[in-house]
Amino acid sequence: MKVGVMASGRGSNFQAIIDSIASGESPDVEIAQLVVNKSNAYAVKRAKKNKIKCNYVDSAAITREEFDKEVIKIMEASEVEIIVLAGFMRILSPLFIKKYKNKILNIHPSLLPSFPGANAHKDALQYGAKISGCTVHLVDENIDSGPIIMQASVEINENESEESLSKKILFHEHKLLPKALQLMCSNKISLEGRQVIITAD
Ligand code: GAR
Repeated sequence: MKVGVMASGRGSNFQAIIDSIASGESPDVEIAQLVVNKSNAYAVKRAKKNKIKCNYVDSAAITREEFDKEVIKIMEASEVEIIVLAGFMRILSPLFIKKYKNKILNIHPSLLPSFPGANAHKDALQYGAKISGCTVHLVDENIDSGPIIMQASVEINENESEESLSKKILFHEHKLLPKALQLMCSNKISLEGRQVIITAD
């Protein structure tokens, strides 16, 4: 299935998907397109290296809807069916969510519904949580609130820093996101209300 990835920065989750395809673990996933909203996003270099089509749309210069319409045009041209937000740090408009209803995956560095938003690691530490982790979920109209596909947990130690917590969680993100995407692309994910049902092989 053709997948469009959206990223804003480093793109290590994007790389994890590339690696998972290369290793044969994601036979139903084909990355057809990368879209970034930051010109200096390192994800662009990863796309070039792997000969993946990449477009930059400057989100600062246009409205949210204009940006989303531009991205839809690009995704349609590449015949994308599934969207993955891999460190994409911008809210999508209802227009975009409707267009790809239940077809957008996001990776978030906390155990949702705890600590949504842009500062998940900092928020978990400040709150004094003893456990955090990451969540792959479907994207709906609200922030970090859609049906949960998979989660992994990590312990928060005394003296944990944002950096050390982020590193620990990232290790799990890189496993979880390609796994959830493969399930999605092999039609093994269905919804009952907000419960995600995963069909066994
Ligand atoms: C990842 O930790 C991802 O979970 C987080 O941004 C990082 C991107 O890293 N996403 C969010 O916080 C979304 N709210 P990457 O660019 O190396 O994949």
